[in-house]
Amino acid sequence: MATDAGTEIPRFPAGFLWGVSTSAHQIEGAADEREPSVWDAFTAGPGRIKDGSTAAVACDHYHRHREDVALLADLGVNAYRFSVSWPRVRSAHGLDFYDRLVDDLCAAGVRPVPTLFHWDLPVDLDWLDRDTAARFAEYVSLVAGRLGDRVSRWITLNEPAEHTLLGHALGVHAPGRRLLFDALPAAHHQLLAHGLAVQALRAAGAADIGIANSHGPTWAASEEEADVEAAGFYDLLLNGLFADPLLLGRYPEGIGELMPGDVEADLKVIAEPLDWYGVNYYAPTRVGAPQGAEIEFGGVSMPAELPFSVREIEGREVTDFGWPVVPEGLTELLTGFRDRYGDRLPPIVITENGCSYPGVDDQERIAYLDGHVRALHRALEAGVDVRGYFVWSLLDNFEWAEGYARRFGLVHVDFDTLERTPKASYRWFRELLRAQAATA
Ligand code: FCB
Repeated sequence: MATDAGTEIPRFPAGFLWGVSTSAHQIEGAADEREPSVWDAFTAGPGRIKDGSTAAVACDHYHRHREDVALLADLGVNAYRFSVSWPRVRSAHGLDFYDRLVDDLCAAGVRPVPTLFHWDLPVDLDWLDRDTAARFAEYVSLVAGRLGDRVSRWITLNEPAEHTLLGHALGVHAPGRRLLFDALPAAHHQLLAHGLAVQALRAAGAADIGIANSHGPTWAASEEEADVEAAGFYDLLLNGLFADPLLLGRYPEGIGELMPGDVEADLKVIAEPLDWYGVNYYAPTRVGAPQGAEIEFGGVSMPAELPFSVREIEGREVTDFGWPVVPEGLTELLTGFRDRYGDRLPPIVITENGCSYPGVDDQERIAYLDGHVRALHRALEAGVDVRGYFVWSLLDNFEWAEGYARRFGLVHVDFDTLERTPKASYRWFRELLRAQAATA
């Protein structure tokens, strides 16, 4: 891959948030010390997780969080994005764990940035039920009441788009439903939950609230009308459906009428102003007209009935996951957002960016991150208000349906011994943070 590696990374503004991200279900383990989630139930089904593994132990972060906080401190990040597990909070002593984690982070000088929902819904709840949104707001109040004296920056939801698409429309993630467009109510109820959570957090005194939404540019497979139209529709599903309600207070044309309940009233809640907007970026998607047959893409089988088909992006290096490496897609995405949302767009934080490669001498990861940090700086130069960048992920972890086969960590985890070994990319990121701090 062509990079500017070797030349110095440009300076980011003083006060920029530099962090790494994780999520509860992917690292905590200690599954027998919390209530079950939809992911536990899904994982128990045959053939769901490619390597047949479970997240029962994962990185055992629940019992080893001190060691992981020490890794964060040594890395030199000024922020850490983790998620709070709702099933754990529901069980005895669950909140005590997050209390300790937040204390230890503060003592290490690392700012805690919790995500309140990262896909591990308590197993008795369902995003197809409107009531789940209200239950979420109650849980959020409880967590904010306990941690709010030390946590100032909050993330409501992680990627409702992927949770809807993969979990409810295509059935390859928990809860494993294949409802296609009948999955849309799950999206609406998550967005409503987000709005109610923003209200609950503000009521608890929080003043620095965002969301982590997955976005990426959609590239049409060709200039043919059918391809352009299909790409436009895909773009609306991934980008517009989840950003327009939050930032413009409306759904893209044709979508609102597919949503349940009093959509206009709900949109007022969903559009509660945000203090910042979190973007998870991995790669653009090339999309063309439907091909009339079920096709496999990125390990996901795409039903023939979909009005689009996802295609390879040719001529690019791909990660171990098969995702193309396209740093300039990040600049394109952010400048596109600035143009689309204008004054309605709050400051942006990149809440996830990273790649899966094996090994501890992970030069490919260094090249990927180097390219993306530079692409982010180009967005900044183009006038996008960017305030932070979080690498996915601190540790190799349970990568959902892929199990432990995909390694995204700056730190290698041996899943037999649970030994942590910082990779070359960890040292590279530490140098970057030192250089940035030196000139801040
Ligand atoms: C994102 C998820 C995160 C992780 C990365 C690779 O979609 O938010 O949990 O799985 O992808």
